[in-house]
Amino acid sequence: SASHSGKAHGKIILIGEHAVVYGEPAIAIPFKAASVEVIIKKTDRPVTITSNYYAGALSKAPKELNYLSVLLQKISSDFKKTIDHIDINITSHIPPERGMGSSAAVSMAFVQALLSYFDISLEKEQLLYYVDLSEKIIHGNPSGIDARITSSEEPLFYKKGYVFESLPLNISGYLVVADTGETGQTSRAVADVAKALKNNYEIAEPLIRHIGELTLKAKSAIFNNDLYTLGRTLSKAHESLKQLTVSNNSLDQLVKTALEAGALGAKLTGGGRGGCMIALATSRKKAESIEHKLLKQGAAKTWIHRLKGEDIN
Ligand code: MEV
Repeated sequence: SASHSGKAHGKIILIGEHAVVYGEPAIAIPFKAASVEVIIKKTDRPVTITSNYYAGALSKAPKELNYLSVLLQKISSDFKKTIDHIDINITSHIPPERGMGSSAAVSMAFVQALLSYFDISLEKEQLLYYVDLSEKIIHGNPSGIDARITSSEEPLFYKKGYVFESLPLNISGYLVVADTGETGQTSRAVADVAKALKNNYEIAEPLIRHIGELTLKAKSAIFNNDLYTLGRTLSKAHESLKQLTVSNNSLDQLVKTALEAGALGAKLTGGGRGGCMIALATSRKKAESIEHKLLKQGAAKTWIHRLKGEDIN
């Protein structure tokens, strides 16, 4: 029988995570090196999932996949469709729970595949409504940036409640991305920042505003092709995130290793408390040597992502 597919990719937050939840800007980059495809087919069994993470009946899936049931029910009821027996096949190359937008990408690909299955076509904003909905289930108070970047071709400058701007990274340089191998805890980290704002407002609020200022600084460094300022700005953002308590030892260690290996700047990326970090390098050669040291330091996996522009030495 006919199959229906949806595709999306992962993301890297260059700068602004956590603060973006409170109205500060953030810059995110589509990360095509890690993508997701969801294929939906009609079957004669109850709804099933096939994925690396879990295979079996949707009704018995671990709670981490609740959002798929919720999306299925919500979309079916919004469009007055009965839920057929379908098989949901998820092929994901995005490591889950690493701050790379895996859940938002799976949601996006799933929503696309399901709408295609139901023969419904929606505007992008409506698709994003459903992806945001599933992000709310996953971590309570999403800014919306993950949902948007998983289907964007361009890096985005994003501020909650505003139209997002595409922000081409016309800057030379490379990002080394390293996975600590530890599951990040975005929902707990987001909840703890909320708690800090409630109980320690005098400390937490200026940190959030400062990250917002750093993000604006990063944006102008990008416009000025000033890789050095960008690097320093990323490192400062890491310090603020650390003070907000969303880093952890493994992330701090990898950031330190990258800086010692000659990175212009380094920080955690995404929700933190595990997951991934990024480091900025001037050339591919430098990026490879940083990558090598990060792996030696215990990084589970690394990627090199080229920004635009020519190498500088
Ligand atoms: C997670 O990728 C980014 C956070 O800022 C949460 C969000 O924006 O929804 C930590």
